[in-house]
Amino acid sequence: MSSLRFLQLHREDDHAVRAELAAGLAETPPRVSPKFLYDALGSRLFEAITELPEYYPTRTERLIFETHRQAIAEAVGRGRTLVDLGAGNGEKAAAWFEALAPRQYVAVDISVDHLRHALASLQQRHPGLPMLGLGVDFADSLHLPPEVGPGDRLLFYPGSSIGNFTPDQALRFLRDAHREAQGGGLLIGVDLVKDKALLDAAYDDPLQVTAAFNRNLLRRLSRLLGCDADVADFEHVAFYEPRQQRIEMHLQARRALELRWPGGHRVLAAGERIHTENSYKHTVEGFAGLLRDAGFGAVRHWTDPQHWFAVFSAAAAPA
Ligand code: AVI
Repeated sequence: MSSLRFLQLHREDDHAVRAELAAGLAETPPRVSPKFLYDALGSRLFEAITELPEYYPTRTERLIFETHRQAIAEAVGRGRTLVDLGAGNGEKAAAWFEALAPRQYVAVDISVDHLRHALASLQQRHPGLPMLGLGVDFADSLHLPPEVGPGDRLLFYPGSSIGNFTPDQALRFLRDAHREAQGGGLLIGVDLVKDKALLDAAYDDPLQVTAAFNRNLLRRLSRLLGCDADVADFEHVAFYEPRQQRIEMHLQARRALELRWPGGHRVLAAGERIHTENSYKHTVEGFAGLLRDAGFGAVRHWTDPQHWFAVFSAAAAPA
């Protein structure tokens, strides 16, 4: 008998989405939240990014996981409810099933529709493992429903997705994670501060896949807001800003133009930018401090030989 269930808790409200986009475009400088980067094409473009030689985070995290799998499994403990935040196709978490022997696998994504196919195939390969697909938006706050087994949860947040939060948002997320772990723990991948040239290349690749990922946002914007943004009018700009320890990604207007939509408009001068994403980089000490500030103890980390990326484990119960 299949033990696969789905629960959609997040409801997209078209009116609220339009209001959020219009408010962001009215700011100085204008901005659009990075969550709008991930429509069907955007998600496929992001997958392509993870295969680029310049985009080191995905393969470096995989190397750390493969090299230290047993030590990490001992640190985080076996037999817990494995909560996969931003699960995608679930394969990163599935690579841990043998070492962690979870009692339940909970895949969390903004929409369960993204999870149905992946979980059906995972369930076939792991028929004895109860699985739950959860449609939850945890960008602003993380609250897990009672369908997630109580107590002793391991929250899994790989891929340095925490880098897309500002430091304040990251701390708020980690406090939520500490509460929701209910005495269990956290396993999280974090991209580290490094040489600017390496970072710039990872977010502005010569094949221009990242440029396509960023510029695809204009098509999403046009669809959701009902405006007429022309992809050809904007160029991709991405660079590391060392003072803030972050990559900034922007869409820069190639000419003076006006974006018009029902009920609003925004004039952009030539060269003016729409800010679309930040990707914060951390130091090992700085991130360990954030985890402790959020209430976690027993903080441990593993890194690659070049110290480009780190995987942290932390316990929600005091050490
Ligand atoms: C999803 N996130 C961790 C990616 C990052 O590296 O910040 C998104 C991305 N943006 C451009 N390239 C990749």
